[in-house]
Amino acid sequence: MRPVCRFPGAKVTRMCGIIGYVGPRAAQEVVVSGLRRMEYRGYDSAGVAVVVDGVIEYRKKAGKITNLDAEIVANPMPEATIGIGHTRWATHGGPTDYNAHPHVSDNGRIALIHNGIIENFAGLRAELQAGGVSFRSETDSEVAAQLLGREVAQGTDLADALRAVVNRLKGAFTLVAMDAQEPERLVAARRNSPLVVGVGEGENFVASDVAAFIEFTRNAIELGQDQLVDVTPTSITVTDFAGNPAESHPFEVTWDLSAAEKSGYDWFMRKEIYEQPQAVADTLLGRFNEDGSLKLDELHIPEAELRSIDKIIIVACGTAYYAGMVAKYAIEHWTRIACEVEIASEFRYRDPIITRTTLVVTLSQSGETADTLMAIRHAREQHAKVIAICNTNGATIPRESDAVIYTHAGPEIGVASTKGFLTQVAACYLLGLYLAQVREAKYGDEIAAIMAELASTPPLIQRVLDGLEPIKQLAAKYINQQSVLFLGRHVGYPVALEGALKLKEIAYLHAEGFPAGELKHGPIALVDEGIPVFVVVPPQGRDQLHDKVISNIQEVRARGAFTIVLAEEDDEEVTPYADVIFRLPKVSTLMQPLVATVPLQMFACELASLKGYDVDQPRNLAKSVTVE
Ligand code: F6R
Repeated sequence: MRPVCRFPGAKVTRMCGIIGYVGPRAAQEVVVSGLRRMEYRGYDSAGVAVVVDGVIEYRKKAGKITNLDAEIVANPMPEATIGIGHTRWATHGGPTDYNAHPHVSDNGRIALIHNGIIENFAGLRAELQAGGVSFRSETDSEVAAQLLGREVAQGTDLADALRAVVNRLKGAFTLVAMDAQEPERLVAARRNSPLVVGVGEGENFVASDVAAFIEFTRNAIELGQDQLVDVTPTSITVTDFAGNPAESHPFEVTWDLSAAEKSGYDWFMRKEIYEQPQAVADTLLGRFNEDGSLKLDELHIPEAELRSIDKIIIVACGTAYYAGMVAKYAIEHWTRIACEVEIASEFRYRDPIITRTTLVVTLSQSGETADTLMAIRHAREQHAKVIAICNTNGATIPRESDAVIYTHAGPEIGVASTKGFLTQVAACYLLGLYLAQVREAKYGDEIAAIMAELASTPPLIQRVLDGLEPIKQLAAKYINQQSVLFLGRHVGYPVALEGALKLKEIAYLHAEGFPAGELKHGPIALVDEGIPVFVVVPPQGRDQLHDKVISNIQEVRARGAFTIVLAEEDDEEVTPYADVIFRLPKVSTLMQPLVATVPLQMFACELASLKGYDVDQPRNLAKSVTVE
């Protein structure tokens, strides 16, 4: 995630939520409930439009959906069987009522919603204005509504008209539109922005996310890049931008509505923290044979190609990047292939060395992160093979990769990623072990033993969750804390970084993660009286770094730090140096991130909640970032 820039003209956007419905139900209700299910994407205005008796009726309001609800109560909308709705995150033009979507064309024919950025909007706007069109907003999106309005007014068929419009647009867009004169037809198009079709019986949906229509149907179709869909209650026709029939990919959504709701938890984030044992178990499910060997059926890359790989580059952003840092230790250890980890937004700008024998592995929960997507495109242009590890079926990143390993974590709604991280680590481990198996870098019984340990982690994660009360109590002590440090070594280092990121993003406090051995080279100057320092201690005895980390704890404690130590169950060596000790189940070093990250996630969740912050939708952040 990245901070949002709200200045008009800025090229930074969040992922808007889009829904369209056509069918016998009350369209406005279906649309608004769909918008609510997409709230987690982040937005600052919302709107809905319907067609009744040849007229477009719309309501739109700045602020949360409750403002839109109030507007609809004050000015009720007529019953309709077709409707579109949108949650907007402001880019071109501030978050006002008039900049909210849907946009209605000057001639009243078209209502349109848009996700993305139309880069050449200024020229198109000037052209339309010169032709007498008056604009009612400052948005880039309105040009698409006006262009489409002009096309249909000339008698062009609605789908052909949209085709003509998209062929004039530059940038990223999902567009959904309806015509006041065709009350049973929606048209939609996508380029570089997500769009899925929900297939019902006598009704159909289009949306940026299956969550928007899961209440009504689990059957969906993912649209490809540069495709257009023409939807009525009983038909769905997919074409490319030239009008040729195009192949679409039907799939079944495997999670239900209750999975997308809070199930009694105060925050989605807390619910998702508690879902981690299941999420990791589901990610591992069906991926190994009875003899302990691995099967990754979805990896349609010939084994000969996997054997020829001489370098791996893991590319990701934020929390996913830290999961990649963890994975590097395991992958290098198991496969003996050199593995680099790179922040996606930096990747292609440094001219990385990529050859046909480089394997690029991308990690993305949403599957829509633009920085990661651009890195994939760059890697594939250089003929590297790309494997995506992703949690979102039908998303752009898996579609544009050579192969995908899905993390079956279920929907992650809280903006701060939690089960995304653990399942990304688990999926990377599957990939690492699979490569070791294919390349015979490890004996079968060694792989089976590691797999068995990996498969044993879900109940251990559950044990950590069952013992989180002391962490929650600790959070209460730090409501007014300004700064917190996190230390770790080896895989404990990315865990420390992840603990710090969680605190920054939801509790808004300064937090830093360091490799514990690096402290003496500078960061130890930050340590003063009473500062809380979390330390992830590697497993005792079996790990050479254990004693070194204990020395690091003594160093910070001698300078006044309050040490909060995460150490395994019977590690008594560390006890004298810990002000607070949180016990972790006994696991090997490489498995430790799967248990040690959990208390740090909960500490941040609890602290942010006690401070009265919106844990699920922290300020300046949203769930997916679809432009660079
Ligand atoms: C942090 C967080 C972000 C994401 C990052 C990548 O809690 O959620 O740092 O991890 O924006 O997102 P995905 O995994 O969707 O590509």
